[in-house]
Formats: sequence, structure tokens, C-alpha cells
Amino acid sequence: MEYRIIMIGCGTVGQGFLEILERKAEQLLDQYDFEPRIVAITDKLKGSVVAPEGLNISKILYRLKEGQRLNTYDGPKIKTEEFLDPLNLIEQVEAEILAELTYTNLKTGEPATSYIKKALRTGKHVVTSNKGPAALHYHELKELASVNHLQFRIEGTVMSGTPVFHLVENGLAGNDIREIKGILNGTTNFILTKMENDQMEYEEALKLAQELGYAEADPTADVEGFDAVAKAVILANVLMGGKIKPEEVKRQGISALKRKDILEAKEAGQRFKLIARIKKDGSRIEVSVSPEKIPISDPLAGVMGVQNALTFETDLMGEITIQGAGAGRIETGFSILSDILAISRTRSKTKN
Ligand SMILES: NC(=O)c1ccc[n+]([C@@H]2O[C@H](COP(=O)([O-])OP(=O)(O)OC[C@H]3O[C@@H](n4cnc5c(N)ncnc54)[C@H](OP(=O)(O)O)[C@@H]3O)[C@@H](O)[C@H]2O)c1
Repeated sequence: MEYRIIMIGCGTVGQGFLEILERKAEQLLDQYDFEPRIVAITDKLKGSVVAPEGLNISKILYRLKEGQRLNTYDGPKIKTEEFLDPLNLIEQVEAEILAELTYTNLKTGEPATSYIKKALRTGKHVVTSNKGPAALHYHELKELASVNHLQFRIEGTVMSGTPVFHLVENGLAGNDIREIKGILNGTTNFILTKMENDQMEYEEALKLAQELGYAEADPTADVEGFDAVAKAVILANVLMGGKIKPEEVKRQGISALKRKDILEAKEAGQRFKLIARIKKDGSRIEVSVSPEKIPISDPLAGVMGVQNALTFETDLMGEITIQGAGAGRIETGFSILSDILAISRTRSKTKN
């Protein structure tokens, strides 16, 4: 079945998604009867291209790698001046799916939230890896999708393509989830790993994380726990029915930890991890992000480097732990594919 897809934002994740489509076209068609057609891409600096017949993905990737603007695409396309505004483009270009892949704004969720609303109001399913709209406006967007018989899917917002929401929606369906706890920020886990394994002080480990590209020049969002808070809020609201706002979460980062704290914990058979914890007690949901000393025997204690992990405490299956990438071009690109394939599965069911 053919799917027309609009992409807003074509940076790391957008290009990872395109690379997957290029590499897997035959397999997707053979195994899943899934034929994607990218009908438009718009990006802040790279410009826009609109091609109702579908873009040649190899040609687009070549142009992006060469640093050329999207409107230099030489395949069949239509004039894009009127589509430079993403809201116009979403409204006017016919498609089944919007892939929203712009930057994360954790203060307002904009402009991504407006793009998502426009898509849902004009009959398009939405998939996104953007934490802003999911952390701040999930219930409103889900409701808007639902009244329009559409889907709003967010697999990539937590642990990139590691299947968190798909696991709960499919494999764990029927369970009550009482608690979710985990490591949701790869940068801080890398720093803690280096402080223990290579006996570095916090500042030294942070500098290394910055040199390796794991931490931003301004590392506040990671090291002070804001990134993990956004993901914990998404888990609380999506998987436990919460209505939690990021500012309601108890938050402490790792910047005050010293090498000696880490080594003392190790001698006591424990390991410091920045733990996001979401606990449900009746209708009460408590969310926190803070460094915790956990026993070395806990599966989360074995998660080192930039990896992420989550443990679900369920009523029927006890504890289930899932570990995997928390970021990455292909990994997060995969989250977009996995959400689109999920939409295609429900769509083909309703067609049969
Ligand atoms: N990279 C990861 O591993 C990862 C993992 C999980 C989640 N995410 C999330 O996924 C989203 C995309 O991440 P990314 O790594 O691909 O970021 P990125 O490399 O910065 O790409 C974002 C792209 O969106 C464009 N953009 C920004 N605002 C726009 C707007 N208003 N209209 C059109 N285009 C706009 C940017 O253009 P300019 O460069 O021209 O400004 C850029 O090309 C983010 O929300 C991020 O938090 C990323």
C-alpha cells in the first residue's frame, strides 16, 4: 500500500529516516506491502521541495550530503514558493502522514505543536520524535487525532527507536503498569560510567562527553535532568494516564556528584544512576528524576555508557527490563519508520 509522507525538518533524524527508506525499499514492499512516497520536505535552512509523484530519495540524500538546498532537486517537482511556510505546506499538499522532525522546545512545544495540529485537522496521521509536543500537549493532540480518526504516534521521543510504546501497546497489553523506572539520558549515563570506570572527576568526564559529541556545549538540559524529566512526563502521561507537567517533577541532576561518591557506592556494592521514576498509587502518579544508588544486581546497574534502559513493574509479568539506544541517526530514524508501519497495519486492517 502506498503512503504519501510530508517531512517537516530534515536534520539528523530526517536524514536517518530517508537512509532507511533508501536501504530497505525492497524489504518494506515485500514483507509489509509498504510503499512510502515522500511528497514534500521542508526545512528551515535547507528550503523546501514538493513532488506529488514522490521524491527520488537517493537524489535528495545526495543533495543534502553535498550541502545543497532542497529546491535544487532536479526530478519532477512543483514550484515551492507558496510552500515555504510549513503550515501552508501541511494544509495544501495531499498526504496520509506528517513526519514532524523539527527541534525540541520544552517551554512551549512550538512551532511543532502547531504543525501537528494543522496536520491532524487536515486529515493526516502524525509521527514525531520531538519531545516538546509530547511532553506538554499529549492529551490534547491525542484527542484531536482521535476525533479525526487519525493517529498521533511518538515512539522516538523516549529511547529513540528502542520500542517503549510499542512494547506496552502490543507485547504488554493487558498488564497494569505500577511503576516505570529507568535511565533515559545517555549523556549523564556516559559521564557516570567514566567517573566509575576511569576514575574521572565530573568535570573531566563532561569534557570528554562534549569532545565525543554526546554532550552539548551547554550541557544543562542533560546534566541537570531536564531532558530526562521531559521523557518521564511523556511516560507518565502516555502510559499511566497522568496529567503531569514538567515543572511538577522532583528533579536533581548529576553535577554535584563527586568521584569519591561513585567509588564509595561501588565499594558498598551499589552504583549511581540518574533514575527517572514514575510510580502509580491508585490515581496518584509521582514522577522524579534524581541520582540514585542502586544495587549492582539491578538490571539497570549494568547499563553503561550512552545506553538507555527502562524497567516496567507489571501485575502479570512482574518486572520487564528493556535496554537499547537512546539516540542516534538511524535508531531515531527507525522510530519514525516503526510508527509509520504501525499506522499502515491498522490502515490495512480497516481496508480488509
Ligand atoms: N538525534 C537524535 O538522536 C534524537 C533522538 C531522539 C529524539 N530526537 C528529536 O528529534 C527531533 C529531530 O532531531 P534531529 O537530531 O534531527 O535535530 P536536527 O539535526 O537539529 O534537525 C532538525 C531539523 O529541523 C529543522 N527545523 C527546525 N525548526 C524548523 C521549522 N520551524 N521548520 C522547518 N524545519 C525546521 C532544522 O533546520 P536548521 O538546521 O536549518 O535550523 C534541522 O534541519 C528533535 O526534536 C530531537 O529532540 C532526536
